This record gives sequence, C-alpha cells and structure tokens, in this order.
Amino acid sequence: MNKRTIAHLNDIRGKKVLVRVDFNVCLDSEGSITNDRRIRGAIPTIKALLDKGAAVIAMSHLGRPKGDPAKDRPFRMDRVASRLGELMGISVKKVDDSAGLIAQTAVANLKPGEVLVLENLRFHPGEQGADSVFASSIASLGDAYVNDAFGTCHRKDASMVAVPKALAGKARVVGLLVQKELEILDHLLSNPPRPFVSLLGGGKVSDKIGFIKALLKRVDLVLVGGAMSYTFLKAQGKGIGASRCEGDKLELARELLNMGSGRIHLPIDHIVVDGLDKPETIRVVEGDIPDGAIGVDIGPKTRELYSSKIATAGTVVWNGPMGKFEDEPFSHGTKAIALAMANSKAITVVGGGETAEAVEAFGLDERIKHVSTGGGAFLEYVEGTPFAALGEIDNI
Ligand code: 3PG
Ligand code: MG
Repeated sequence: MNKRTIAHLNDIRGKKVLVRVDFNVCLDSEGSITNDRRIRGAIPTIKALLDKGAAVIAMSHLGRPKGDPAKDRPFRMDRVASRLGELMGISVKKVDDSAGLIAQTAVANLKPGEVLVLENLRFHPGEQGADSVFASSIASLGDAYVNDAFGTCHRKDASMVAVPKALAGKARVVGLLVQKELEILDHLLSNPPRPFVSLLGGGKVSDKIGFIKALLKRVDLVLVGGAMSYTFLKAQGKGIGASRCEGDKLELARELLNMGSGRIHLPIDHIVVDGLDKPETIRVVEGDIPDGAIGVDIGPKTRELYSSKIATAGTVVWNGPMGKFEDEPFSHGTKAIALAMANSKAITVVGGGETAEAVEAFGLDERIKHVSTGGGAFLEYVEGTPFAALGEIDNI
C-alpha cells in the first residue's frame, strides 16, 4: 500500500478533518437501520482523529435518493448520526445540508473532539454529477481529507474524487478501514497461501463476468452455488427444471467453463421446491433437476464437498450466497459454507453485500479473517479496476 494514512496526519490538533465514510447501510422500508457494520467499520478512524485533537466532519451518501424530498426521507442521515453516537458513546452532531451556508455554519461551530455528520451527499445532484462547484463547497469545510469509504471507492462521486482533488496541497490520506481492506486484498492478490479456493454464488453470471475472469487467473478452484449455478448447469446440457437461468448467457457460461478448464465446480445436488409458494414440496435432488422443480439451495452432498475443499484450503474468498438464504429452509447451504469458513485455518475473506449480511446473521463474522465492507468495490478491486478515488490520495 503506497498511500498515506492517518499515521501521516501529524499536525491536525485543532483542525477540521473531512472524512468520507461509507454509511450507505441497509435500511428497512421505514428507513430503520438493519445492519450497522459500515458505521462500526468507520469508528476506529474517527476515534483516532479525535484522539489527535481534531474535529471530524463525517460525510456519506445513503441509498439512491430520487430528488423527491418526501420519498427521500428515509435517506436522511439523522438515524445514522444517532447510531454513530450510540456506538461511540458520545453525542454526534448532524446538519441538514452538506454544502452551502447551513453546512458552513455548523462546521464553524464545531470544536476539537466533536463529530459532525453532514446530510446525505446525494441530496445534491452535484455529488453524482461529480460537480466541481459542489466539490469546492465541500472542500472549503475541511483542513484535511480522509477517505475511509472503501465501499464507495469504485465510484467517481464528487466527494470521492473532486473533493480531494480540490484539496490538493492539504493532507489527503486513507483511513484505517480503507488501509485494512487494501492491505488484505493486496495480500490476497499478490501472494495467497494455496490452495486458493473461491466460492461464488448469487443471482447472475452476467453481474460477475469480470470477477470470474479475474479469479480464474489466480485461484486453484472455483466452487459455484446460488442461482448462477443453474445457468452454468444448463450450459453443460444438464436439466435445471424451472430454476432461475440467464438464457442469453449460456454461451458466456460455456466460455467461462472452458477458461476454467476443470477448475470450476458446480453443485452435484440441490434443494428444490415445486413453487416458491409451495414450501411443503421441499426435497433433495441429485443430478438433473426434474421439469417444473425450482432449485433454491445447494444440496447436502455439495455442502459436504465444498466444506471439505474449504477445510484444506490456504486461502478462501467468498462472494454470493449459495441459495435463497433469507428463507430459513433454503439457508442451509449458505450457512454450511459460512461455518466451514469459520472453522477453516485458511485466510478467509468474505466480499461484502449480502454475503457479509448472511455471515453476520449466522453470528459467524467474528470467526472469519476479513469481512469486507465493499460489495461492488470489493469485486472491482479484485478485478483489477484502478480506483480514481485512490488516485487523489497522497502517495507515501
Ligand atoms: C455500495 O453499497 O455499493 C456503495 O455504498 C456505493 O453505493 P452505490 O452502489 O449506490 O453507488
Ligand atoms: Mg452498490
């Protein structure tokens, strides 16, 4: 990692530090936070800055607001700010804008040792429009810039790229979370203990083409589960019944299987139902899935096979659930994999999004070496896409 970190921020006592965090947390339909992992992930950096005598201005987007204040209400940062305060055991301030006079006044009143959360950056079109006027307005609030938003590092939003650009000449560093994510991923990509096993699940092959190709250059084995396995199985001419399948991606799936030359393994048995509204028809099927049946999880033999590969691996990277894990009867495949990872001596890494949520829901996250806060960012980093946001951070 050749980027400056908060260890390089020597002279910030009494200064105001802008910290771009990724507080884009999971919300329920009411806007209540259902998972605060990303908030917890940013706390070490915020604490370290406060300990150095600075005031912290934390800024983030939340969700994908549409520009309609009534509909966008759940995306206001108030609940995030109060959860941050609860978790840190301090009182955290919140201001109802991220730029302009309201934000400037709140920042002017901020004292060393205090934390202020700005309103959702995406309430301003300038954030995703990478607008330089909006960026300058934000940049004017801080004396230094910290990028601790690993989950957003693949985006070119103003607060990720144009704000640090506007702060050239002042200190621009990565926070502890970004530092940790990059160090772990760089280690995986450069010198992984072998065998290097990857587990791939989730809905669509098409979402993960670049990721699969990047993995095939590095790993010894790809174990596939989730709905994407049915596309691969169909591409091999296997029966998949009425399971989810990307009919227009069969050729691509065949191409990937050829590239993998025997290293891509597909489920050998399945949990199926005759309809998602017919849970009573749940059963195990080996080999071809009969007409009309829908695959919803990997079967017990696949669980055992994949778990044994994880047990003897040196490195395991997992992205994407093995089945419809949000429904308990279909969660056993995903749970078995999470457990195998928790019990493995390998370097175990889970790539964010719903896989991280699953691992947390099973209470196994603490037993996995690294659960990334990045979903898309995790995939793109492993693919080797350079992040413009990191390009604006000072090199060592
Ligand atoms: C994420 O969760 O992927 C990041 O917070 C970025 O959000 P986005 O996908 O809405 O740009
Ligand atoms: Mg995303």
